Amino acid sequence: MSSDKLIIFDTTLRDGEQSPGASMTREEKIRIARKLELMRVDVIEAGFPIASEGDFEAVKAVAESVKDSTICGLARALEKDIDRAGEALKPANSARIHTFIATSPIHMQQKLRMQPDQVVEQAVWAVKRARNYTDNVEFSAEDAGRSEMDFLCRIVEAAIDAGASTINIPDTVGYNLPHQFGDTIRTLMDRVPNSDKAVFSVHCHNDLGLAVANSLSAVLNGARQVECTINGLGERAGNASLEEVVMAVRTRQDIFPCDTTLDTTQIVSCSKLVSSITGFPVQPNKAIVGANAFAHESGIHQDGVLKNRETYEIMRAEDVGWSHNRMVLGKHSGRNAFRTRLKELGIEFSSEEKLNAAFQRFKALADKKHEIFDEDLQAVVSESVHEL
Ligand code: KIV
Ligand code: ZN
Repeated sequence: MSSDKLIIFDTTLRDGEQSPGASMTREEKIRIARKLELMRVDVIEAGFPIASEGDFEAVKAVAESVKDSTICGLARALEKDIDRAGEALKPANSARIHTFIATSPIHMQQKLRMQPDQVVEQAVWAVKRARNYTDNVEFSAEDAGRSEMDFLCRIVEAAIDAGASTINIPDTVGYNLPHQFGDTIRTLMDRVPNSDKAVFSVHCHNDLGLAVANSLSAVLNGARQVECTINGLGERAGNASLEEVVMAVRTRQDIFPCDTTLDTTQIVSCSKLVSSITGFPVQPNKAIVGANAFAHESGIHQDGVLKNRETYEIMRAEDVGWSHNRMVLGKHSGRNAFRTRLKELGIEFSSEEKLNAAFQRFKALADKKHEIFDEDLQAVVSESVHEL
């Protein structure tokens, strides 16, 4: 099922919440879910209803208050999980049950203690059970990234036959490399005879810092749903970050055969909301949403950007929700940025000589401070004026 629409499945409220220390209350989940809806996220995984009474109530509350996105609940391939998810999702306009079972040799042998045949049987049973609640059933082969291809093909085919409309291939432990993960998706879609009856999805963890790269490689090889989280929140090193996946695809439309329908101008405020609710700060150099993502300090860069933004910017700060890009005045800054900022502050010099004197003072101060603020500039200017 190849399409030019890339479905964004946000799991901030489920896998993101599994970050140690990131648990959220029902009200907090509703606030984030509403923001995701405003951003036009297609599917919101609101939680794991069997995990606790609180999570059940939170999924139910999200299903009651969000009407434009599909609301999803996670369930192991177990009767009690699926029934609990089905119950929590009852108020949803559009509900999805996401059921999963592990398919890698280590998980089947050591964790599930089940034979591969039993795992297939359980997966089929679970998908059918979930179909009693909704036509929108997603099946995940947990630890697919370390599973054997023949077995993966077999279980995926069986899950589609049983009624799964989305097949999710997780790199649960972030073990894959991009070319390898892309090959896995391509091979599955080529080899599974009924693969055209389902959307192929990926869910990548970031243990080797490759979650976004692996997700993008999967999209280039046919996946049409990416599971991701705001700010890359998630178990251990986190999940693929929504903002990076979405903006990579949007910025490189020359490469990708599909795009999302997200309102990207909501990205920065959504990132700030998730950060303030979870208490997880965003690192300044984080792509897209970090405070420095659109900041320029070096004189060469500032001069280039002042002449034409595209010299050092591949996307517009405004398109992801920043009000503007930012010129940081520091010891690497040049005369052009210095003069431009002063002009913005309403300060103009009557001669080049006066500008040069002020610029020398600014440089001396910048050697002692990380960043020069507007108040510093005012002081530099008045000292220089007095001196001349
Ligand atoms: O990482 C994983 O495999 C998961 C599944 C439940 C999809 O989170
Ligand atoms: Zn996960």
